Amino acid sequence: MRNKWIVSVDDFRRASRQKLPKMIYDYLEGGALDEITTRANRVQLDALLLRQRSLVDVSAIDTSTSVLGQHIDVPLMVSPMGMLTIFHPGSDLAVARAAARAGTIFIHSAWSGCSLEEVVRVAPNLWAQIAFWKDPEETRSYVNRARNAGVETLVVAGDVGSSSKRERDLRHGLSMPPRPPLLDYLQTATRPGWVWRWLTGRKMTYGSYEIDGRPLRMKEMNSWMANNKNASASWEQFARLRAEWSGKLVIKGIMDAEDAARAVDEGADGIFVSNHGGRQFDSQPATIDVLPAIVAAVGDRAEVYLDGGIRRGHDIVKATALGARAVLAGRPFAYALAAGGEPAVDKTFAIFRDELKGAMGFVGKSSVQALDESIFARDTHAFLPESLSLV
Ligand SMILES: Cc1cc2nc3c(=O)[nH]c(=O)nc-3n(C[C@H](O)[C@H](O)[C@H](O)COP(=O)(O)O)c2cc1C
Repeated sequence: MRNKWIVSVDDFRRASRQKLPKMIYDYLEGGALDEITTRANRVQLDALLLRQRSLVDVSAIDTSTSVLGQHIDVPLMVSPMGMLTIFHPGSDLAVARAAARAGTIFIHSAWSGCSLEEVVRVAPNLWAQIAFWKDPEETRSYVNRARNAGVETLVVAGDVGSSSKRERDLRHGLSMPPRPPLLDYLQTATRPGWVWRWLTGRKMTYGSYEIDGRPLRMKEMNSWMANNKNASASWEQFARLRAEWSGKLVIKGIMDAEDAARAVDEGADGIFVSNHGGRQFDSQPATIDVLPAIVAAVGDRAEVYLDGGIRRGHDIVKATALGARAVLAGRPFAYALAAGGEPAVDKTFAIFRDELKGAMGFVGKSSVQALDESIFARDTHAFLPESLSLV
């Protein structure tokens, strides 16, 4: 599909499917177990319908807002994603530069293929994700690196203590390094563009972790993870981090109002409502379903953000109207990266921004701050056949 025929995020999804080997596309698109939660994120957003208002002056729509004191031109940021290099050698750098051009914030993943310092150079306002590794010194030294790089906001990974079971990946033998069955090698041969970029482009590393002063190689990741993964991360660890980190602190992966309240009590500045796009724990609710209770529990003590299934400008409208300060998206930017590199990521931001402006106009609101529950159509049922299938 040529980029000029692409007019929606879903067009980029289909283009990425044509460009990527099946095992890589499945890694990008898949969720845990039966993918119920991945689908629910979309279905429940679609089920919210909006009221169209007439003859309201919407000639000057302002999509800007602020997050933790930082101005952003659009209430849409980039969720942290590891291993972006596997989709395109532009990797984090391409997405981070595009986010900066779109006037918004990129979150660097704790599992990124590019080092934090490298990405900060192209997107100085980024937020950095951190994980609580088994060795507290490992975490502390990463936090120090973030501080030295000038990062002001840390995002704690709050939903990675347990391992997920992504069956698409298991069937493809997508371990680290990948050990795919023969069929996958044959299928990969039908994606020469990807193969060429893979062989000639940026090498796949875990850029932010080092052994002997060089970035950790992909094949070393399994044993590094086995040594460092931490199933015993706790609120005490969060409280210690709070005491040591004077910048802003956000916790990602909150799906429960009690946890949100606890996080704020422990000093979180931002609550990031996320079920990891359904990639970790299946059969939990859509993020949009738990958002109102979390917003109520947090009040004005912290900002609340949401990701999971954001694919249209009107999805941004719905989530912000329900109390999210801003939303984030993951897969949409990875689809674009895989389909057309950095220009495609720019285009994805433009698509979101144009759709957002259109939706704000139709609901009769000229600013993000004016979006509230009055925009929803009540007592209606959405017609949902497409959302029910990920294929
Ligand atoms: C390829 C890929 C890699 C991801 N890696 C991470 C990660 O390293 N850390 C993290 O907290 N979440 C990670 N996520 C989850 C995203 O941050 C985000 O929560 C999710 O993608 C949002 O759902 P959406 O893809 O429907 O927008 C990843 C998601 C994808 C698709």
